[in-house]
Amino acid sequence: MRRLAVGAVFAVVVIGALLVIGQGGPAEPLPGQPLRALGNAKGIVVGTAVREDQQRKNRAYRELIAAQFQSVTPENEMKWYLLQPEQGRFTFEAADRVVKEALDAGQTVRGHSLVFHGQLPLWVGKLGRRELEGAMRAHIAEVMRHYAGRVGVWDVVNEALLDDGGLRPSPFLKRLGSGYIGEAFGLARKADPKAKLYINEIGAEGINAKSNRLYRLVRDLKSQGAPIDGVGFQTHFNLGGVPDGFVDNMRRFEALGLEIALTEADVGLPVPPTTEQLEAQSQVYARIVESCLAVKACKSLTFWGFTDGRSWIPETQPGMGAATLLDEQLRPKPAFAAVQRALSG
Ligand code: G3I
Repeated sequence: MRRLAVGAVFAVVVIGALLVIGQGGPAEPLPGQPLRALGNAKGIVVGTAVREDQQRKNRAYRELIAAQFQSVTPENEMKWYLLQPEQGRFTFEAADRVVKEALDAGQTVRGHSLVFHGQLPLWVGKLGRRELEGAMRAHIAEVMRHYAGRVGVWDVVNEALLDDGGLRPSPFLKRLGSGYIGEAFGLARKADPKAKLYINEIGAEGINAKSNRLYRLVRDLKSQGAPIDGVGFQTHFNLGGVPDGFVDNMRRFEALGLEIALTEADVGLPVPPTTEQLEAQSQVYARIVESCLAVKACKSLTFWGFTDGRSWIPETQPGMGAATLLDEQLRPKPAFAAVQRALSG
């Protein structure tokens, strides 16, 4: 009997210890003022992309998100392959957890993204014109109604353009024609009239073929009455730096009456990076912040992850990584202090 009792106590202790280890230890506090406070003082919402599995499993990761950021963007959890893995079967659980965690921490949520060629479930590619149009309608309506009042901003259309300024030949373009972009915005406004609706683009920061096309696209859609509230520039950069003309580019969109958000900022480095490269990276980060501060309509800056341990760059670009503000152990890199300084400047 006594042996049984000792065994039971031992088992409880071991399971308890495993649970605590699984949760990880608490976050080491980061030096200086939290980014969210510095951003708030400047009227800029500072956010980060988050991964639900990490947030659930890793206490320090979760605590830093709550402490440092004012807004979150689910990195993958609101993409079609996770929200609607089979046609008509919506699975909101993971995204719901990110949203709840954010609201509990007094944060806002950017929804990413409603119409995007990436991470589509296989069934989408098999649909004909009529069916795809129906699926787009159903997806936007179901998802936005589910999150109405909880997700205030959506990337409605993501990466609709190619670098040469052509429209990207996504399943949406191929089946529905170029009208799908305006239609998606109309559907989004109907589904949640209070949400801010963004078009989000990669590689359109400088003045180039892509941003020129984006400008014409948005201008024309607006003049036709499409409900577009803002333009998101992803700002995935590297040591090539912030492209010339970024501020002027944002200003021409601002002049169309649009809000601007920097939605996915990171700065990839060759790995392992040298001290000089980390320093150069910090300057690129500072310029990203300064560029946003230079444009009145730029009120939101989201980092695409905040730790090198959880970033898409090493996962998808061999030889590259170290792209975020904190290292893999969640310790600040020079970039973190540079962003703090730029936000205080
Ligand atoms: O879910 C599987 C998991 O089951 C498996 O064990 C694991 C093994 O690698 O892969 C997991 O899927 C990965 C998924 O992220 C979730 O982590 C995919 O392989 C991976 O390709 C996917 O990458 C995402 C990428 O979009 C896909 O296009 C990145 O995390 C995400 O950061 C990235 O985000 C995009 C934005 O949506 C749009 N702008 C560009 C940005 C960077 O590519």
